Amino acid sequence: MNEKDFIFSKDIKLDGIVKWTAPSNIAIVKYWGKLENQIPQNPSISLTLNESITTTSLSLKPKSNNNSNLKFEFEGETNIAFEDKTRAFFKKIDKYFPFILNHDIEIKSKNNFPHSSGIASSASSMAALSACLVDFEKMNNSEMSDDFFWKKASFISRIGSGSASRSTCGPVVIWGESEAYENSNDLYAVNISNQTHEIFKDFNDTILIIDPGQKKISSTEGHKLMNKNPFSNQRYDIARKNVIDLKNILKSGDLDGFISIAESEALMIHSLMLTSNPSYILMKPNTLKVISKITEYRSESKLPICFTLDAGSNVHLLYPNNIKDKISDFINNELIKYCSSNKYIEDKVGSGPEKIN
Ligand code: DP6
Repeated sequence: MNEKDFIFSKDIKLDGIVKWTAPSNIAIVKYWGKLENQIPQNPSISLTLNESITTTSLSLKPKSNNNSNLKFEFEGETNIAFEDKTRAFFKKIDKYFPFILNHDIEIKSKNNFPHSSGIASSASSMAALSACLVDFEKMNNSEMSDDFFWKKASFISRIGSGSASRSTCGPVVIWGESEAYENSNDLYAVNISNQTHEIFKDFNDTILIIDPGQKKISSTEGHKLMNKNPFSNQRYDIARKNVIDLKNILKSGDLDGFISIAESEALMIHSLMLTSNPSYILMKPNTLKVISKITEYRSESKLPICFTLDAGSNVHLLYPNNIKDKISDFINNELIKYCSSNKYIEDKVGSGPEKIN
């Protein structure tokens, strides 16, 4: 499929409301560096989460006058920043949904993860909104297949935020072209769960909240700095190879291989932040303390746990479900003291957006 296949050109009149939830996701091989329009420099593979979700309702009515046609309410209150962000997003996608231009639009959105947890919400929020938009198109396109629905939802989410493309299916997803996976491509994400061992299908991700504050440098700025980073080309090559290696690891259930790639990817993107110009550090002292506790615990207990990081200070602790009780003890005895207000989120892998009736 190419970009043109996603253009919906029918001029339709809509009056109604749809509501979807969509989850966040955590990358194992990271997307870090992009071309225009969220075309990734390398393929990435992620686990879709289950508990950290955004719920969004989208209501459309034929446009009543020439005033601005968009209202955005976040957690019960008008949110001008989100309204502006959504208006910019709609400008980029109105050729795929021309009905955006001639309808009054009201969006109500909320996250179920704590407000200031430092958890990125762009992936879940863009995926939920995109599912709502494609749902409206589907009402007027009875021939639309489920397969097309999800390709388009991922394609549109990607335009909003690259990693959001991976929140539209699950639990194991690739986005970006790789020789390892036949249908993988840069435009939308593809579910690779049927090529993945059962052990990864009930994996846990406990998100340790190290610092709930807003980060100083956004992911979007971080991607931009990769264009001048002296190590960027090597990074893209390593990421491509990690995707190829991870394929066999995911298939066979090789937890040691998984741990090695997950941790090296996390540290590598943070090392790219250290070597950017200007350089910056998103890890906090407690991020490093938690990381060293995790690796110490692994070498003593021989249990297959590991960490990953996204573009922030929080630590994602990943482990299979059959050791959950032991890891709960470890978290409570050794890790929560490094978390902000003892906060952590017990998440696990999930299968993507759901419609709310
Ligand atoms: C470190 O998807 O947030 O989490 O496309 O500019 O919106 P934009 O960036 P974004 O970048 C995510 C970066 C990451 C790695 C990942 O999720 O793959």
